[in-house]
Formats: sequence, C-alpha cells, structure tokens
Amino acid sequence: MQIYRRLGYMMFSPSPKLIICLLIFSLGLPSSTIQPYCTAISDAGEVQVLQAIKRNVGDVFNRLSNWNGDDPCGNNWVGVICTSVNGTQHVVELRLLNMNFTGTLAPDLGNLTHLEVMDFMWNNITGSIPGEIGNLSSLRLLLLNGNKLNGVLPPELGSLSNLTHMQIDENNISGPIPQSFQFLNKGRHFHMNNNSLNGSIPPELGRLESMLHILFDNNDLSGELPPELSNISTLIILQLDNNHFSGSIPSSYGNMSKLSKMSLRNCNLTGNIPELSASIGLIYLDLSHNQLTGELPANVSQTVTTIDLSFNQLNGELPPVFYELRSLELLLLQNNSLDGNVAAANLKHNAFTNEDSILIMDFQNNNFSELTTGAFLDITNVTLRLSGNPVCNGPSAPSKFCGNTNTSINTIPTTPLMIPPACSASSCDSSSNQELNYGLLALNVCKCAYPLTVRYRLKSPSFAIYQPYESILLTHLSNGSNLSNYQTNLSDFAWEPGPRLSLIVKLFPSQNTSEFNKSEVTRLYNQYSTWSFPINRILGPYEMISFEIKFPYNVSEAQAGSKSRLSTGAIAGIVIGAAAFTALVVAAFMLVIARYSKYRHVLSGKQAAKHHKPVKVDGVKQFTFKELRKVTNNFDDSMKLGQGGYGRVYRGVLADGSEVAIKRAQEELLQGEKEFSTELQLLSRVHHRNLVSLVGYCDDESEQLLVYEYMANGTLRDHLQPNSKAPLDFAARLQIALEAAKGILYLHTEANPPIFHRDIKATNILLDERMRAKVADFGLSKLASLPELEGAPGGYVSTLVKGTPGYLDPEYLLTHKLTNKSDVYSFGVVLLELITGQQAISKGKNLVKEVNLASEAGNMLSILDPRIENYPTECLQPFLHLALACCRDETDSRPSMADVVQELEFMLKLMP
Ligand SMILES: *[C@@H]1O[C@H](CO)[C@@H](O)[C@H](O)[C@H]1NC(C)=O
Ligand SMILES: *[C@@H]1O[C@H](CO)[C@@H](O)[C@H](O)[C@H]1NC(C)=O
Ligand SMILES: *[C@@H]1O[C@H](CO)[C@@H](O)[C@H](O)[C@H]1NC(C)=O
Ligand SMILES: *[C@@H]1O[C@H](CO)[C@@H](O)[C@H](O)[C@H]1NC(C)=O
Ligand SMILES: *[C@@H]1O[C@H](CO)[C@@H](O)[C@H](O)[C@H]1NC(C)=O
Ligand SMILES: *[C@@H]1O[C@H](CO)[C@@H](O)[C@H](O)[C@H]1NC(C)=O
Ligand SMILES: *[C@@H]1O[C@H](CO)[C@@H](O)[C@H](O)[C@H]1NC(C)=O
Ligand SMILES: *[C@@H]1O[C@H](CO)[C@@H](O)[C@H](O)[C@H]1NC(C)=O
Repeated sequence: MQIYRRLGYMMFSPSPKLIICLLIFSLGLPSSTIQPYCTAISDAGEVQVLQAIKRNVGDVFNRLSNWNGDDPCGNNWVGVICTSVNGTQHVVELRLLNMNFTGTLAPDLGNLTHLEVMDFMWNNITGSIPGEIGNLSSLRLLLLNGNKLNGVLPPELGSLSNLTHMQIDENNISGPIPQSFQFLNKGRHFHMNNNSLNGSIPPELGRLESMLHILFDNNDLSGELPPELSNISTLIILQLDNNHFSGSIPSSYGNMSKLSKMSLRNCNLTGNIPELSASIGLIYLDLSHNQLTGELPANVSQTVTTIDLSFNQLNGELPPVFYELRSLELLLLQNNSLDGNVAAANLKHNAFTNEDSILIMDFQNNNFSELTTGAFLDITNVTLRLSGNPVCNGPSAPSKFCGNTNTSINTIPTTPLMIPPACSASSCDSSSNQELNYGLLALNVCKCAYPLTVRYRLKSPSFAIYQPYESILLTHLSNGSNLSNYQTNLSDFAWEPGPRLSLIVKLFPSQNTSEFNKSEVTRLYNQYSTWSFPINRILGPYEMISFEIKFPYNVSEAQAGSKSRLSTGAIAGIVIGAAAFTALVVAAFMLVIARYSKYRHVLSGKQAAKHHKPVKVDGVKQFTFKELRKVTNNFDDSMKLGQGGYGRVYRGVLADGSEVAIKRAQEELLQGEKEFSTELQLLSRVHHRNLVSLVGYCDDESEQLLVYEYMANGTLRDHLQPNSKAPLDFAARLQIALEAAKGILYLHTEANPPIFHRDIKATNILLDERMRAKVADFGLSKLASLPELEGAPGGYVSTLVKGTPGYLDPEYLLTHKLTNKSDVYSFGVVLLELITGQQAISKGKNLVKEVNLASEAGNMLSILDPRIENYPTECLQPFLHLALACCRDETDSRPSMADVVQELEFMLKLMP
C-alpha cells in the first residue's frame, strides 16, 4: 500500500538570507517522498464526505482552503492521508488537530469506511459525537479530546472492534458510559476524564482484556465501584478521582498485579482500605479526600513511591511496612486520626545511601503522640511534618517538625534553576532562532542549532515529584525516537491539575549539523503524534500537544523536494496551506517565544557531574582506574575469568582481601557518562539474592568498569561439561533452576523499570561458594546496544539482535520485538541443558529441536544427561514438560516467569 501524504506548499517572503521557517504540523505533513503524479484517483463518495465535514466543522480560519476539487488524495488536502486500494484512493487518516474549528462533526464521517485514525484534538468543536462513527470498523484511534463536545456517548461506538484509543477527555460529554463499550475488545486506552459523564461504571468493562489505562477522573460518575474491574489482568492505571461514588473500595482492587497506579482521590468512598499484598507492582496510591476508616494497609509493595491517604478517617498506628518502603518519595497521611509513635529511627530508605532520593512525609493533624528521631531526619532531602499532633504540644515538642505548612502534590519543590556554565557567554544568536543544545554541554561542546519544540504531556504519571524521573524520561524519549540522549533537552515542565505533567521537549539535530532534514522532521513528528513510544509503567499515557519548528530549510533540499518553484536565494517562509495564515502563524510563533523564552534549564545528570559533583550512585563504590589496574595485576591474563558481551572479566583482590569480578568495557562499547550513570543507577537499585550484585564501578581515563561480587564456583555451564569433576545431582539442578528463575522473575516484575535480561544462558548463571545460583550480566545488554543509536561504527554490536545463538527466541529473531517471554525462551534452553547436560548448540545441532524430536518419539531417556543418578521419575516428566513449554515458538503460549517459578517450587516439594 502506498501512503500518499499531504505536501506542504511553500510561500516566500523576500530576500533575507535565512528566514524563520515555522511549520505548524497540524496544518499538514511535509513529505520526503513526493508523488509527482497520482495514478490512483480518490474515491468519489469520500470526496462528498470530506466536503460535508468541511461544511460542518466551522473552519473560521479557512484552514481547509485547499479542500477544493475532487481529488483530496492527489491534491494533498490538508490533514488528509490516503491509501490506495485496487487503484482507488481511500482516506485512512484525518489529522485535523489544532485547527480552531468551532462547528460540529458531520455524521457523514461514518461513511469513510477505510478510516483508521480520526484526529480532531484541540479544537472547539461542539455538538455530540455522531453514532455513525460506530460504522468505522477499521478505526483504531478516535481522538476527540480537548473540544467542547456535548451530548451523550453513542452506544454504537461499542462496535469499533479495532479501536485501541478512545480519547474523548476534556469535553462536556454527559450521560452514562455505554455498556456496549465492553465489546471494544482491543481497547487499551480509555481516556474519558474531564467530562460530565454520569451513572455508574458498567461492571461489564471488566471483560476488556487488553485494557491498560482507564482514566475516568473528573466526571459525575456515581454508584458503587464495580469489583469486576479487577478482572482486567492487564490494567496498569485506574484513575477515577473526583467523582461521587458510594460504598467502599472493592477488596478485589488489591489483587491487580499489573496495576502501577490507583488513584481514587475525592470519590466519596467509605469503608476500609483493601488488603494490598497482591498489588505487587503498585507504584502510586492516592485514596485521599474520602471517608475511609480503619487502619493503614499492613502490606504495601516495595515498589511504591507515592502514597496519599490524607483527609480520611484512618486510625491506628503506622504499620511496620511503612518504615520499610525504601523507594518512597511522598507519604501524605495528614488529616486522619492516626496515633502512636512516629519511629523515624526505624526508617529504612534509599535516602540514607543515595543523595538523589527524596522523602516527604506529611503527618499533620493526626493524634501522633511521640516521635523517635534518628539520623534519618537530618538528611536534607527528608521532610517530616507533624504540626497538629499531640507530639507538638508542650515545651519539649520537636519544633523543627512542628511548623505549619501545606503540602499539595502540585507544590512540591521542583528543580532549581541551574545556570548553564561555560557556554552561556557564547549564547546563540537569537535572531537566527538557533538555541543552545544543553545536552552537549556535558561533552564540553557549545553548539547552537535549530531545535524542534514539542509540547508533550504525561496524562497520568505514576510519580508526584519530577526530579528523580528526569533521566528516565530523557532516556525514554531519546530511545523511543532514535535520538541520542544529548539531542533531547527537557527544557521546562509544569504540573497541571490531575496531576498531569506538561513538558517542553527540545529536539536537536546531531552534533555535526545545525538542522534536521525534512525526512527526520517528518519521522520525529510521526513518532510523537502517533503513540508509538513504548508503554512505560511509570510514565503512563502521554500526548503531544504541539510540534513546532523554526529553522531554515536548506535551499537545495527544498528545491529538490518541492513541486514549487523556488527563486534562488529566497528561502521558504512558512510551510502552510495558504497565504492568509502567515500573519496568524507568525503571531503564534511570537507567542511561543514569549511564553517559553525563560526556560528553566534542567541540566542532565552528566552535566551535573562535570560541573557540580562527581556522579555518585546509591550503595555502589566508586573505584579509580588505578586501583582496579592494581588489583588485577594490570589486567594480567592470569587474572582473566572470561569474556562477556560487555568486555573482558577479571578477578581482583581488593585491599580488604575480598575477591571481586571486574568487567572492563571494550572500547567500542564505551558510552556517554550520562548513559553510564543512568545505567548504574538502574543496576544499583536491583538487589536480589539470586542476582550477582554490583559492588562498584569506575568511570575515568576513558575506561568504564563494573565491579561485581565474585562467584567462587564459576558458571553453571562449567558444571554441566562432561569433564566436570563433581556432576550435579537432580535435586541440585532443580534447585539451581529455581534460584535462577527467581532472579529473572525479579528483573521482570520488581526491578523498576523492569529489565529484560536478553542474554540468559548457562554461562550467565553463576554459582557462589555455597552453590547458590545467581544470574549475571543483566542490564548490560541495554548498555551494549547504545553505541548503535549513537551511530558509532558497527564493531561488536553490528546487528540489532542481541543474545547468544541457540538461546534466541525465534519470534524475537523474526520481529525484533523483545518481550519478557524472550527471556523465558532462553531460560527454557537452560532447563534443557540441565536435563541433557548438552550445550544449546553443539556440532550444528540445536538442543531445542533435538529434545523436541526425542520427546515426540517418546525417547526421552536417550537424551537425558547420563551423569544424573537416581532421578525421581515423577519429577523428570514435569521438568521436561516445563522446559519445552518455555521453548515454544509462539510467545503467547510460553509460561510467564512467575509460572515457571511456581512450577519449579512445586517440583522441588515433590522431591523425596
Ligand atoms: C453517507 O451515508 C449515508 C447513508 O448511507 C448517506 O445518506 C449520506 O448521503 C452519505 N453522505 C455522503 C456525504 O455521501
Ligand atoms: C481488489 O480487487 C480484487 C478483484 O476485483 C478483489 O478480489 C479484492 O478483494 C480487491 N481488494 C480489496 C482490498 O478490495
Ligand atoms: C487557535 O487555536 C490555538 C491552539 O491551537 C489557540 O492557542 C488560539 O488561541 C486559537 N485562536 C483563537 C482565535 O481561538
Ligand atoms: C476556543 O474558544 C475559546 C473562546 O471561547 C478560545 O479562547 C480558545 O482559544 C479556542 N480554542 C481553540 C483551540 O480554538
Ligand atoms: C451507520 O450508522 C447508522 C447509525 O449508527 C446506521 O443507522 C446505519 O445503518 C449505518 N450504516 C452502515 C452502512 O452501516
Ligand atoms: C483490524 O485490525 C487487524 C490487525 O490490525 C486487521 O488485520 C483488520 O483488517 C482490521 N479490521 C478492520 C475491519 O479493519
Ligand atoms: C456519598 O456516599 C453516600 C453513601 O455511601 C451517599 O449516600 C451519598 O449520596 C454520596 N454523596 C455524594 C455527594 O455522592
Ligand atoms: C537532595 O539534597 C541534595 C543536597 O541538598 C540536593 O543537591 C539534591 O538535589 C536533593 N535531591 C532532590 C531529589 O531533591
């Protein structure tokens, strides 16, 4: 299928050599592939429909002025994207966001049978949503948010069987949520917040098996919360704030294991807080401003960072778990009836070891009678507020904590203004619209360039304090759009009610140029506007609000790429549909400048490193290169333990006599200081008994090394080799399998963000002096793929696929789509190695295939490792069965790591 895109027309303003080129993308897409002739013709019926849309939509600014004639696809009508089917052009996308429309949506929209994306975001469209839209069986994205739509939701929309995004938030839509929405089987995002929806939430929505984000907050919903919503096993966000429900929070809401955010603020809820021990992925819990009674939950996931239970009627003491939540950032319990002792001395928290950790505890207006202070409360980033409690009465009150202050999520202190160092003097010539790329200061490069400015918004983030998440956000945006971290500047942010996080992102061209080319601009625009960033549990749903460019098109390129005749020397003015917009656009442009010229420059971690203090990582020791060279006898070959994907591994004996394993990155895998530190932060947070732990690191003299605990008994592979001295018995194999599986499960479900190992194999499962198995090399795979993004010469990582032959998920090989099930596959191969003693690939034979053949032939004994003595037959069969299930070709039919752990535990219990 050939996609024809709208081609922008160029208009010219006279002479100046470099003229601002502002391209408002909502007005049309620039195209890198120009179609001089359109062989296919537009579908005549659809032309009628488009004209009906134009008549209804209230195009007061004449944005659709080129919607003339009878060939929308051939003549590149603004915002119309077509596809050719059997020689006829059909409309597949309408991108009509930010057009200042004021009219209504024509029911004829329902005749565009090929439509997949309907985007009318951010206009002032009134009237109701026509039921005819329910006829669009191909529709995937229904994007009507940010208008003035009213009326009720038509039940017909329930027949949009391909719909993934229902975004109707920020309108005036009333009436109930139709029961028919239960049939939106592909629905993943229901964003209906900030309307006037009433009635109760249909329990039938519990059928929606792919749902990820439910945002119904700020409506007039009532009735009881349906317990059935907890049947949605995929649900990540449930945000229902500011409605008027009755009754209590269903206890089943504590059983949603994928849920990262539950926000039921100000919902008129009564009763107790449900038991939360099964909410193992919970990060953000807001149940504030209700009438909840009873005690605080006794079990809360270790992953939680934000708890707001303020303004309820909770009583009792602080349960022990509240002292153990190491990643907590915000704990708001004010205005309840809690009592007893605030035993701050018992607190265990990352802020002890990581100066970037922050903790705000607001316990004001309760009945706390005692405070046991401790060193913890002296840490700068720890705040405790106790005023309005009995403990603050009397002469011996801990006055430091008894001041009267207000904490609201939106007023949490944010990043201080950082003055850019060195380069600021040579700041960019503002008349040319170039800007300083802050991302490059880290490399001591002062570079001005023409950025793209994206206004971007997180609609329901699972955090309340911005700063600790900046680097995650930066990496997410850079990786998601295939830019290097230094090309993405997070230049400003603001919390909006919700809380939603609004950001200004500046995208800079690569270091050696000062402007993006057209195809890059198009690519980036598409990336930001089509919801193609990967889903992130912490960041939640997002949206692009605007996308602006100000830079001069390169003359030759514009000439080569445009149908228009360019007079030499004169450069494109504004790429936009019609002349009448020039003034308007320039005005909009001025507005943008005026509004955002005072950026709060948020410097990245790396800059902070260079100009403020060395990077320090929580609980991880920093070594100098000299030190590490010394403890490895100058990296002598006799100290070499092996060679991994990251580089060579050496044994070292530290000054205190302890042994460590030191990984030295190969030169071509060296990464930017910032990426390295981001990665280190990530690794340092990963602690599990079945994962090899990081002891320290070194980042100097253009060397990057990671220091790990030493594993005395080497790799699992060593113990399976035919020549190994003490062959493992069956029970030991099962035990090793279970321990390794637990390590991987932790990476998948508890690490934050989750980590896919990507290179699980018998040589990456190490055994300590007590033969306890630990998984090694996790997280590094991500490090190892970075140079590709940087465009570094191929070298070691020349292909996108990372992993080891024989262990690679076949589906990953085909699609390059990595999932946690890719690790399950590799782990299955390890299980087969444990059963057979053979290697994943030996003499050209693939172990998975061999075992499958033997198993189908009923000939298992032939491939069993002959060194396993007296194995219990009742365990062998399930073990094999599990291994083969993990190695199934289809991702979906493999068990999850949680299942694997459970099965292995069960088998171990069966062992005599
Ligand atoms: C759309 O389809 C309806 C029903 O088939 C028809 O009445 C209407 O005229 C069509 N609209 C256009 C603009 O062709
Ligand atoms: C294209 O035309 C052929 C023959 O007329 C038909 O069989 C086919 O279904 C058409 N394809 C589509 C996508 O309509
Ligand atoms: C047109 O829409 C933009 C946002 O897309 C808005 O900022 C501007 O105020 C609108 N203009 C008018 C006159 O409504
Ligand atoms: C919508 O209309 C209001 C005035 O009623 C105006 O301020 C606002 O800018 C308009 N928004 C858009 C996107 O046109
Ligand atoms: C389109 O939708 C309307 C109203 O929902 C319905 O009456 C009509 O039959 C539908 N047309 C087609 C062709 O399905
Ligand atoms: C729905 O989506 C699937 C896969 O994306 C596609 O194959 C199918 O044709 C779509 N259905 C319709 C009616 O467009
Ligand atoms: C709050 O819930 C109670 C029942 O729990 C109900 O009677 C009352 O009407 C609700 N209040 C509002 C404002 O919805
Ligand atoms: C913690 O405190 C240190 C020192 O005052 C400060 O530099 C750092 O920015 C703080 N961290 C956060 C997350 O606020």
